[in-house]
Amino acid sequence: MSNIIDGKAVSAQVKERIRVETAKLKEQGIEVGLAVVIVGDDPASKVYVRNKKKACEEVGFTSYEYALPAETTEEELLDLVKKLNADKKVNGILVQLPLPKHLDDKVIINNILPEKDVDAFHPVNVGKIMIGDYSFLPCTPAGVMELIASTGTEIQGKECVVIGRSNIVGKPQAMLLLHKSGTVTICHSKTKNLKEVASRADILVAAVGKAKMITKDFIKEGAVVIDVGMNRDENGKLCGDVDFEDCKEKAGYITPVPGGVGPMTIAMLMQNTLTAAKQQNGL
Ligand code: GUN
Repeated sequence: MSNIIDGKAVSAQVKERIRVETAKLKEQGIEVGLAVVIVGDDPASKVYVRNKKKACEEVGFTSYEYALPAETTEEELLDLVKKLNADKKVNGILVQLPLPKHLDDKVIINNILPEKDVDAFHPVNVGKIMIGDYSFLPCTPAGVMELIASTGTEIQGKECVVIGRSNIVGKPQAMLLLHKSGTVTICHSKTKNLKEVASRADILVAAVGKAKMITKDFIKEGAVVIDVGMNRDENGKLCGDVDFEDCKEKAGYITPVPGGVGPMTIAMLMQNTLTAAKQQNGL
């Protein structure tokens, strides 16, 4: 019988730490501000943005929300990013992805000042993560690391398998596990014998985007199974990449969806925003 990792509880602890530190900054006259930009009306993005705004309120940050219409041009969006780069009240800038098709994510991200890029998506911040010298955490992978730590599992020397090679999750996740001296394998859609590779893992991170694709024959008895997926099942119900019901007895620890990785991503975003505010105030 596995232990279910409670992402809400772990994220509440992280946010509480941030709230206390934010209150102390306020006493020194420093306010922390996060700008969240959303373009268009993708329903999932709207939910994420709402949750980010709520988290800002919980920890005592000021959030500045910019909801732009789907027809916004690249020039208009870049104008806003430049305005936010120059705004002293704004310590962190987050442009919610995906953007509508006519806008190029890369162009927009490259124009966010690296010191305000609290998503850690700018190439400068990605490079720093690669060399292990970074102040901004990649939010979702860092949240996964906190969840693994909450189980008391040592990473050093362990077989770690990451399924998915996205720039946002898979690649930085592999780096963070490697920095902790895990033996890391990245699997993807062209991987042969995925079941065989995945079931070697002491620590398995699934970030594929395919509902319930990881069944118990993909996991090793007692493994730590972290599910980054956020999908809808055949009944329209939110579910992960891992078939939770099928795997929960075999895994040593497992995250649910919702209530696993999701809340952690937001907590780490708050952490980065606090770091940005401190750095920008010379602390
Ligand atoms: N879309 C899905 N996840 C994320 C995220 O972590 N940051 C941003 N900006 N957009 C996302």
